[in-house]
Amino acid sequence: MKVRKAVFPAAGFGTRFLPATKAIPKEMLPLVDKPLIQYTVEEAKASGIEEIIIVTGMGKSAIEDHFDTSFELELLLKEKGKRQTLGAIEEVSELMHFAYTRQKKPMGLGHAVLCAKNLVGNEPFAVFLGDDIIDARVPAMKQMLRVFKKYSSSILAVQRVPKSQAHLYGIIKAEKVSPRVYRVLDLVEKPKRPPSNLAIIGRYILTPEIFDALEGTGPGRGGEIQLTDAVKGLMKKQTVYAYEFEGERFDAGDKIGFLKANVALALKRPEMRAELKRFLKGLNL
Ligand code: G1P
Repeated sequence: MKVRKAVFPAAGFGTRFLPATKAIPKEMLPLVDKPLIQYTVEEAKASGIEEIIIVTGMGKSAIEDHFDTSFELELLLKEKGKRQTLGAIEEVSELMHFAYTRQKKPMGLGHAVLCAKNLVGNEPFAVFLGDDIIDARVPAMKQMLRVFKKYSSSILAVQRVPKSQAHLYGIIKAEKVSPRVYRVLDLVEKPKRPPSNLAIIGRYILTPEIFDALEGTGPGRGGEIQLTDAVKGLMKKQTVYAYEFEGERFDAGDKIGFLKANVALALKRPEMRAELKRFLKGLNL
């Protein structure tokens, strides 16, 4: 039961980032020098995923162009002798195999995953939410795949969040079964009274039975088809686990989280670190 495919829901309107996202997809906002979505695609590749299924919508063609070859641009860079930049451009289009499908109506995360049903087929698959950027020594999905190998069940990535923030997430109630691994007992999307502080973060490994569960899930929180509700449905038939990954997570779908991710990731880049540090210190905060 190898996990070969990953679904990337990317049909949202990016309303938290308006007006920046009026004409460009949120997924294409640059984090240091790469679009947001490239970080999660690279994490998928480094974790051994072979095929990416991007669920797009209206106005998202820049994502497809980004992961395609750009003949004219590559020719121009070749002629100008810009070998390093050419290498970076070629690398992007060779990252992995991409397939695209569209979510025709904004009916929520669960519905977006359901749109990928035919492309996924009858095999376990991963889901990546591009807003969650995870900086980790071992890629977060790679850590989860190790857990999947042992349990052969759906795995949700979780992280402890302050209680005051819990209403912003899907929250699980769970019992610990081994270090960092929990058996999920219950889960609820953006609860008013959170049953714990273990929040679902945007990485999932799901068995294909989730599609039946999604088809049987009606609108939930915000009137949308929630993935959290479908996982709850799946739990009637299968055990679901949660894994507390190691690594630092940034909520890049939020303006302040996006800024923090830019600073933290730029500080890790040798060519930017010294200058950026000097600038930040000079702010005399
Ligand atoms: C989604 C999920 C939620 C999860 C969160 C993680 O919510 O519905 O369960 O905790 O991603 O980032 P969103 O942030 O899209 O509202």
